[in-house]
Amino acid sequence: DIKGFVFDLDGVITDTAQFHTKAWSKLADQLGVQWSTELQNGLKGLSRMDSLELILKTGNKENDYSQAEKEKLATQKNNLYLQFVQTITPADIFPGIKEFLDELNQHGYLMSIASASKNAPTVLDKLELTDYFEHVVDPKTLKRGKPDPEIFIKAAEIIGLKPEQCIGLEDATAGIAGINAANEVSLGVGSPDVLTEADMVFEDTNKITLANIEANMNK
Ligand code: BG6
Ligand code: MG
Repeated sequence: DIKGFVFDLDGVITDTAQFHTKAWSKLADQLGVQWSTELQNGLKGLSRMDSLELILKTGNKENDYSQAEKEKLATQKNNLYLQFVQTITPADIFPGIKEFLDELNQHGYLMSIASASKNAPTVLDKLELTDYFEHVVDPKTLKRGKPDPEIFIKAAEIIGLKPEQCIGLEDATAGIAGINAANEVSLGVGSPDVLTEADMVFEDTNKITLANIEANMNK
């Protein structure tokens, strides 16, 4: 029986995926790396340093920078991202998500955050959702980032559940892979053409309700 929900944040609860994309594509430009939809989708869900490595690898530049230089580039991206984050208000929560969180609370489901982002607490604060998520996995404690299942297993653990008792929500292919490998039910938020491995996909966040999820579980 499902007893909990494990949420990715960026691209699931609010459109911060857009801000990460803007900031990374600017850096890619600066580094002379060709941007593409494929790269954009591949970056989703990856940790900050894994993202930078993927960009450099895409441009065959993985050996062009020292570790110190890479850290500088990542900090530069993060500073731009943080400027975008300052503009976030509760009105930026995706349609229907707040209602869904209330529905989960009313039915006694547990919830936690499985975001690779070190900025997740700041974003939750800007959205005024901190009270909903007492349990947030600290990405600093992870040995491996998404698509590894570690973060999703931890997200179940911190609410006292087994992975099989949880549904994981993700907008990234790397995230869906992690949820599936963790043995949780995977709920994709976005295009079914991209999130092909998800157990169910919702393009419209307004449609994410317990009734619609249950209907999909019985398929
Ligand atoms: C994930 C995003 O949630 O967090 C990625 O999908 C991002 O795009 C990653 O790179 C790391 O975020 P941060 O805020 O720690 O750089
Ligand atoms: Mg995401």
